[in-house]
Formats: sequence, C-alpha cells, structure tokens
Amino acid sequence: MEPKYKRVIIKLSGEALAGDKGFGIDPATIAGICKNIKEAKDLGVEIAIVVGGGNIFRGRDGEGMDRATADYMGMLATVINALALQDALENIGVEVRVQTAIEMKEVAEPYIRRKAMRHLEKERIVIFASGTGNPFFSTDTTAALRAAEIDAEVIMSAKKVDAVYDSDPKLNPNAKKIDRLSYIDVLNKGLKVMDSTAISLCMDNNIPVLVFGLEQPENIVKVLCGENIGTIVEE
Ligand code: GTP
Repeated sequence: MEPKYKRVIIKLSGEALAGDKGFGIDPATIAGICKNIKEAKDLGVEIAIVVGGGNIFRGRDGEGMDRATADYMGMLATVINALALQDALENIGVEVRVQTAIEMKEVAEPYIRRKAMRHLEKERIVIFASGTGNPFFSTDTTAALRAAEIDAEVIMSAKKVDAVYDSDPKLNPNAKKIDRLSYIDVLNKGLKVMDSTAISLCMDNNIPVLVFGLEQPENIVKVLCGENIGTIVEE
C-alpha cells in the first residue's frame, strides 16, 4: 500500500485509549492502536501524535471548579496517556519521544519545534503532551497548532464514531454519513467535528482534517493510504 501523505498528525482522543471501559487506560486497546500506528510508520510516514485526556479528566468535567484549574488537570491527564502510548510503542520496537508543552523535564522533553521535526526526520514518533500548555484550548486546537508548526499535511482525527453525520447516529437510525465538509460548514452548522478554535486554525492554514473511527484500528493505515472511510473537512 502506498501512503498518500508524508507527515501527519494523528489526534487520538483520550476515550480511544479506554476501550469498552470508558475510563482509564486499557492496555489491550492501546496495544491494538499502537500496532497499527507502527504499520503506518513502516509505510514511511512521519507521524506525530496529539493525545487527549478525556479518559482520565476533561477540563469541562470540572463542574463548579475554576475552569483554568480544571484545564490544567486535563493537560496533566494527557501526559499520563502520552507515557502509556510511549511505553506501548516502545514495546513493539518503535522509537518514540514525548514532548510536553508544560515543562516537566524529569518526565519528558520539553516541546521544542525544531527538535520535534528532527525526531520525525529520524523516523521517530513524537507524542505531544499537555496540550498547548494553556487553559481554554483543547487538544484538537493543539493538533491544529502543531500540524501548522511542523508542516504536517493532514490531521487524522481518530474518534469513537466512524465519521461525521447529519444528526446523532445513536439517536437517529436514519442519520446520514457526510463524506466531505468545508471548514465554513463545520463552523456555520456548529458541527462537533472539532471546536471552532481548532477548525479556524485548520482553515487559516489549509490543513485538511480526516475524521474516522478507531473501532477497527487498521483504519489508521486505510486513511493514510487515501481510503475515504470517514469524513474529510477541507476548503
Ligand atoms: P538525537 O539528538 O537525535 O540523538 O535525539 P535523542 O532524543 O536521542 O537525544 P537526546 O540526547 O536529546 O535524548 C536522549 C533521551 O533523553 C531521549 O529518550 C529523550 O526523550 C530524553 N530526553 C531528552 N531531553 C529530555 C528532557 O528534558 N527531559 C527528559 N525527561 N528526557 C529527555
């Protein structure tokens, strides 16, 4: 199989790491995802990963809490996920570097853009942890920001649902899958593909977003090779 892209960001939601448990980290689920990320890498694609933290703590879970504090807790959750992913990838022989936007140098490297790009050139996977390092920004926005910074061609947004639908497929059995959307459509219709900050950043920098489901982890390789299995958000 021939990959369509040379350098990509894979955005993994925290929930994707929890498996059926819905909370925490499920080693078998992570192993399955990492096996496919390795396959994708072995096709010669440079891969950076932005991971969420919703399986442990989400800023918006902090009801009644100070929003910034809750967001910092969410950022720390992404570090835990990044270390779990690092470990699982290293177990199968993949070289990985975790970089954190919030400095914690005993735990991982700090985020340094040029170093991240160098790691990618050396065929290492780079995992970006602790979001942008700022409260009020999501890990989707982190994916958009890092993609722009490191010249990634595309953001592969791996979700629990397999695509974007015109209504909630869990509530409406007739919900129709949408193959293609423009950035403006997502913003105007308030579709929950990514938050508006993330989509705006993608739009300004012309970075397409490929939304797909991780139920079958082999989807990562399929999407990389240009199979139209989910929804593409582009100009
Ligand atoms: P090259 O420069 O290409 O050799 O990359 P490298 O990442 O192998 O070199 P470096 O000597 O920077 O890092 C060696 C190991 O230390 C890697 O596993 C890095 O992730 C880790 N490392 C580097 N800087 C830091 C840091 O500030 N904190 C922590 N915790 N680990 C770091």
